[in-house]
Amino acid sequence: MTSKLQEGILVGCGNPLLDISATVPMHFLQGYGMKEDDAILAEERHMPIYRELVENYKAEYLAGGSVQNSLRIAQWILGQPKVAVFFGCVGKDNYADILREKAREAGVDAHYQVSTDTPTGTCAVLITGTHRSLCANLAAANKFTIDHLKQPANKALVDNALYYYISGFFLTVNPPSIMSVAATANAKQRPFLMNLSAPFISQFFMEPLLKVMPYVDIIFGNEAEAHAFATTQGWPADADLREIGKRLVALPKINSARPRIAILTQGCDPVLLIQHDTVQEFEVTRLAVHEIVDTNGAGDAFVGGFLSQYVQDKSLDVCIRCGNYAARHIIMNPGCTYSGEPDFVE
Ligand code: AP5
Ligand code: NA
Repeated sequence: MTSKLQEGILVGCGNPLLDISATVPMHFLQGYGMKEDDAILAEERHMPIYRELVENYKAEYLAGGSVQNSLRIAQWILGQPKVAVFFGCVGKDNYADILREKAREAGVDAHYQVSTDTPTGTCAVLITGTHRSLCANLAAANKFTIDHLKQPANKALVDNALYYYISGFFLTVNPPSIMSVAATANAKQRPFLMNLSAPFISQFFMEPLLKVMPYVDIIFGNEAEAHAFATTQGWPADADLREIGKRLVALPKINSARPRIAILTQGCDPVLLIQHDTVQEFEVTRLAVHEIVDTNGAGDAFVGGFLSQYVQDKSLDVCIRCGNYAARHIIMNPGCTYSGEPDFVE
């Protein structure tokens, strides 16, 4: 970090979740009708998972929630507290205390809405070998309302920010809040960044996603998410990731003076940066199998690394290289956690 940044220049909204992570046998997943590398929302039949993980497997509790993960990583790299502000809803319980403490430790300025009658949300992280399957029980996170953003102190935080980041996951919770932040960003000509988050978002929440898309300046996603978007849109089945990226940036945009950018990750294969009609590739330095602890949080960490540079007005090239740096680091640590001091060099 060279120069000091203004506090609160980055505002994020999302689901604050406590991850309950454990290595489980394949039959555990099968028993709940889950796939190896998926992310779903918990239904009634998934509810016993959380207790089972704690009682029968060596479950670890880790701060989670996609946007909060990204902001924690951005803060770690920035090394200056309170550059990032986070909004989301938690319960009034011990899990909320853990999330609050983890956010504070990382330097994220979390302003939680608190639901008094619903517990803090959790996400089961089921690890099978090098795969992980997520099952989010949003609980209190689902209780977020736009009133929280309208409170004068919070409204001031949104108005004063210079960059905005919201996950696709938040579309299942409160589209009016997303539209309101997007409109503020647009009115002030400030960048609004979003993530496709998971295939189910495109499959089941395409309508609110398309409503916010005209406001999105930078869209992030991985291969599976990009393909899910393309399929739901009815784009040609043989469209590859480059083609999908070009179509994503060409979707209608309100502020046409700032063309949309798409950034698509594909595991250890190069990251694609799509602008207009051009696609640039950024190599990933592949980790050896024995260096991988778990890939949980890799995508979130990529965004966190990216944001840490983006808020310093660094070039997209530097932002993406820092994204890869952060993802690589997080893969060598459990969940979306980091260790030691960051050593990213431009
Ligand atoms: P999860 O989906 O695991 O995190 P993620 O950040 O998306 O990580 P993935 O492993 O899925 O990565 P990716 O596929 O996006 O990226 P890619 O592989 O392309 O989710 C974690 C969190 O989500 C949890 O904490 C949970 O709480 C939260 N969550 C779940 N449901 C939620 C909900 N409904 N609402 C809110 N939160 C929710 O890789 C990205 C980058 O990683 C690459 O570009 C590269 O730089 C690097 N990389 C990947 N593989 C390698 C490798 N082998 N070697 C070196 N670098 C690598
Ligand atoms: Na990890």
